[in-house]
Amino acid sequence: MPPQTLEARPGRWLWTCRAGFEPHLFEELAWASAEPRLLGEALVESEGQQELAPAFARQGSRVVASFSDEEPEALATAVAQAVAALPPPAPLVLQAFTPDTPQGNALAAQAEALRDAVRGLLPASRLLEDAERAREAGARLVTLCVAPGVTFVGVVHAREALSLAPGGRRRMRRAGESPSRAAMKLEEALDGLPFEPGRGDVCVDLGAAPGGWTQRLVTRGAKVIAVDPARLMPELASNPRVRHVQESAFAFAPEEPADWLFCDMAWRPLEVAQLLAKWGRRGWASHLVANIKLPMKDKNPILLRVRHTLTEDGGWKGLTVRQLYHDRDEVTVTAHRR
Ligand SMILES: C[S@@+](CC[C@H](N)C(=O)[O-])C[C@H]1O[C@@H](n2cnc3c(N)ncnc32)[C@H](O)[C@@H]1O
Repeated sequence: MPPQTLEARPGRWLWTCRAGFEPHLFEELAWASAEPRLLGEALVESEGQQELAPAFARQGSRVVASFSDEEPEALATAVAQAVAALPPPAPLVLQAFTPDTPQGNALAAQAEALRDAVRGLLPASRLLEDAERAREAGARLVTLCVAPGVTFVGVVHAREALSLAPGGRRRMRRAGESPSRAAMKLEEALDGLPFEPGRGDVCVDLGAAPGGWTQRLVTRGAKVIAVDPARLMPELASNPRVRHVQESAFAFAPEEPADWLFCDMAWRPLEVAQLLAKWGRRGWASHLVANIKLPMKDKNPILLRVRHTLTEDGGWKGLTVRQLYHDRDEVTVTAHRR
């Protein structure tokens, strides 16, 4: 790790990841011949390439400028100038984030103050406030990354962005709610899809217990076949829209094809991938959302085999593989059959 955050080279891409996962992100980028360089904790720089979507990146943007050792006022002016020079007419969504590390998180207030100061220096007509509308509005995300000693300005088309949340840090908690981390993983995964399971859809949930995912799916109006040898929460066990099959997912076969296959089984990734490939080959589900556990040190070689198994053996298409904000030693996979 460099002793101090390094400045990024304009035109290259700045990626941010979960702290501690820099080596995995670096390796992925190196395997893609994208010439990575470690800039600091949770920050890696690389060449930009079409359709580069590293699994271990939470967000990526093309570097427009980076600044070090500037006073806040001069920094805001310099950043605003760099942003104002971006070619019109796409509306801009201004976002600020810090690397997700103790040192980075201590800069959160500074990052927000910079974003507000820059916003005040730009014509309101160029800005879009609602990031949720960024894709449909054809907007670009302007990402201000405030790291220890360096501030980066990046830009990415919202339609190509890995996430619409600042730095890919998708916070889910809503007022009065205390969803489990498992439930938040599912919500974040569904967020990234063009459509979601809804009323009347049949979902199979492999590794369902204690039931965070099943609960969320039922709330959306779906019917759920929850497969897990372990027990479900009592309120789910008695829910008429839930059928609990208390056996191993490896022994289970659906009576008829499901709309969605969900899987959050705590099991070996290659064996889970083979099981999901079987579901794909047999046409047992149309859509897939699966959380793949990666507790091993060497994660990328396993991920490569998981991808290969799902696509080549399973026929799953449109595969995305991402370590989401709520994922720890794991990644979330989405795919579809047609
Ligand atoms: C992380 S938990 C799932 C959490 C769940 N998604 C939720 O939201 O509550 C992992 C589950 O995988 C289940 N599991 C492990 N091996 C399994 C197998 N062979 N078949 C079915 N479930 C399995 C475990 O019993 C455990 O309940």
